[in-house]
Amino acid sequence: MIPVWAQLLYLLGAVCFILALKGLSGPKTARNGNLIGAFAAVLACALPFFYADLDHIPLILAAIAVGTIGGVYGARTVQMTQMPQMVALFNGVGGGAAALVALLELHEIVEVGSHVEKFTLVATAFTIFVGSVSFAGSIVTFAKLQELMTSRPVIFPGLPIVFGGGLVAAVVLSVLEVREPDLTLGIVLALIGLLMGVLLVLPVGGADVPIVISLLNAFTGLTVAAGGYVLSNALLLVAGTLVGASGTFLTLLMAKAMGRSVANILFGALKGGSTLGAGEASDRPVKSAGPEDVAIMLAYAERVIIVPGYGLAVAQAQHTLRELVDLLTSRGAEVDYAIHPVAGRMPGHMNVLLAEAQVPYEQLIEMDDINDEFKDADVVLVVGANDVVNPAARNTPSAPIYGMPILNADHAKQVVFLKRSMRPGFAGIENELLFEPGTTLLFGDAKDSLGKVLSAVKGL
Ligand code: TAP
Repeated sequence: MIPVWAQLLYLLGAVCFILALKGLSGPKTARNGNLIGAFAAVLACALPFFYADLDHIPLILAAIAVGTIGGVYGARTVQMTQMPQMVALFNGVGGGAAALVALLELHEIVEVGSHVEKFTLVATAFTIFVGSVSFAGSIVTFAKLQELMTSRPVIFPGLPIVFGGGLVAAVVLSVLEVREPDLTLGIVLALIGLLMGVLLVLPVGGADVPIVISLLNAFTGLTVAAGGYVLSNALLLVAGTLVGASGTFLTLLMAKAMGRSVANILFGALKGGSTLGAGEASDRPVKSAGPEDVAIMLAYAERVIIVPGYGLAVAQAQHTLRELVDLLTSRGAEVDYAIHPVAGRMPGHMNVLLAEAQVPYEQLIEMDDINDEFKDADVVLVVGANDVVNPAARNTPSAPIYGMPILNADHAKQVVFLKRSMRPGFAGIENELLFEPGTTLLFGDAKDSLGKVLSAVKGL
């Protein structure tokens, strides 16, 4: 039995997790939200040492040390652009841990032979299976994003049949498990879960992988919640439910922002459909210019809108960009950043990147709030973005991004793209806006190009 004082502290931890989520929902409060969440996690790990009759304390401490060192090292060294795979890895170990805990509980139930409620056994089977799916799926998403394997959809004949068969086997095993708890059955269920996790993610193309990470995150949340029920731990129950609910919302919001359904993202490739992948560089002629020409366009513009994208993060050009925007503003121009919900490779990527460069939050305008203003812009400066301004999303039904809401950069008087080559964006398709008469390209690494434009504007 957990003593009342410890239950109250667990309740405090649960409240902290809710406050953490609230804090994380806005850029100004996100840092504090993160700290509150970290405090609750430390509290949750520390509490059992004070009330529970723990065995193997040195082993537990060693595991905590390994986790802490790995976590701190990973979080400190990870590149911003590698954040999605980092989240995948953390999420995977969460799911795997939940599955292992449930297997141990099952072992206990079988050993002691004690009578447990049927619902507890259902929750145990659920945690073993879904936790294993989440673990294996997350490892494959990590490998795809880290380019340890191809990021293209991997499909083979009979995949839907194997997948369907695996699901049926998992249900049958779970039913048997609930009727007559047995450790071997639990282990087979976990192995099937691992296989299903791999099969779930293999057919997903690179650009869609971040959405699958969010979905697997929701799975992990549900397994942790079920694990909380099995262990009678209210904090795990609350934390898991929060992760499950927020992961589900995030998945749906991302899918909506990309104009796709979750089913299409997961199973599109099986239908020979539209899952995204890399594309060829175009050799059609475009209008290009040097940094001085771009500096003149910007220096004499009254209304400028910046469209940041994945390339800004790759180039780490956020500080130089902010300097340029500050200079233009001091010269009297009205400048804002237009933030597309899926610009970059993870939710909020551009907000985090620009916040790092101390860009005031008021200058970051969400797509729906700024889209009507593009028609009044003298210059739109697209820095390392492509898909989020590609009119194919509106005009070309066969395009993989068709239906994705985009920023109306093509409505502006002039558009300047900063990119290194004629390679397409992540969706792998050509962008007609690059070939429009009002469009100019400044080729080169975004940080380098912005530095040159900045010096040129200073000299005017
Ligand atoms: P992308 O369409 O991927 O375009 C990035 C552009 O940056 C490319 O044109 C690339 O051209 C350029 N670039 C790369 N490195 C650069 C550098 N060092 N300097 C200058 N330019 C550089 O990016 P986006 O417009 O941000 O769109 C995001 C894409 O990711 C969308 O398709 C979206 O659906 C997908 N996605 C996003 C998310 C989230 S949650 N953000 C999740 C899943 C999928 P060069 O190679 O020629 O330089």
